[in-house]
Amino acid sequence: MTDSLAPIVAQHYNKIEEKGLEERKQSRILYMRNFNNWIKSMLIKEFTEKIRDEEKKYVLDIGSGKGGDLLKWKKGNINYLVCADIAETSVEQCQQRYVEMKERHKRQRERGQCFDAEFITADCTKERLKDMYKEPDIKFNIVSCQFAFHYCFESIVQARRMLQNISECLKPGGYFIGTVPDAYDIILAEEVDLELLYCKRFEDYYEEKRKVQEGQFLLTKMQALETYPPMHDNQKLMGCDDDYFAAQQKIKALLAEKEQEPIYVGTLSQAEWEVFCMYCVFAFVKKEKEEK
Ligand SMILES: C[S@@+](CC[C@H](N)C(=O)[O-])C[C@H]1O[C@@H](n2cnc3c(N)ncnc32)[C@H](O)[C@@H]1O
Repeated sequence: MTDSLAPIVAQHYNKIEEKGLEERKQSRILYMRNFNNWIKSMLIKEFTEKIRDEEKKYVLDIGSGKGGDLLKWKKGNINYLVCADIAETSVEQCQQRYVEMKERHKRQRERGQCFDAEFITADCTKERLKDMYKEPDIKFNIVSCQFAFHYCFESIVQARRMLQNISECLKPGGYFIGTVPDAYDIILAEEVDLELLYCKRFEDYYEEKRKVQEGQFLLTKMQALETYPPMHDNQKLMGCDDDYFAAQQKIKALLAEKEQEPIYVGTLSQAEWEVFCMYCVFAFVKKEKEEK
């Protein structure tokens, strides 16, 4: 048995190749991936709006991977981003993606400023990030950990190190946000002066955010839902027809309400929906220091 899962995890993520747009479109989990991205967009938007009036907006992204959230942070108008991940190749690709994004911003003379950034390769469950920042006294407004927090639960010592990394440079009143497959253990965060604001199942968060104008707009723009029934002959369903029972019921209900055919609904196959429903979004706020 190996002592630690870290090398296996890092190797796994290092090996995953960057796929082109066309190849990604062929993926069996295309919509689930887009849907997860939509959830993260809504969460990042919710919390970058809360810090909108701060003069400087600093963010730490733990387990940042290949930089799938860089654009979301750009849209959130932050000033500085620290990306940390255990997988060296992912960190390199993340940095490359950031450089391209910044160049595009300049070339296309997009509005505002593109944030500055630094990139750290580290096992965030074992190493102290504060010793690695360019500016060790940096204070973050938001710490984000998307689909990566569960890796710290290999041992309680690692969980505590991760939580220390999350909390020690987070400003009082700053936010710790993330997405996890199982919410039971996140409550440990209360040990490091973090107070739980909420923890919601993806399906509930979806219900809440799809009603908001931006949420509705992004659902379409990000292709977060599959159209049922297929609109064109060349649109192939991700699952078999039985996998779309919920969509079929919805169409029946709409017909009963006298909507005219053809009716198309946005949905996910049953298999993708079941995986999606295992996840939660959460948000903590760092407690203000008590007066002595
Ligand atoms: C499922 S990916 C999520 C990537 C990114 N946050 C996103 O949402 O697209 C999980 C990431 O966690 C990273 N990770 C796993 N264990 C880690 C650790 N101990 N320290 C830092 N990063 C870790 C992996 O390398 C991987 O990039």
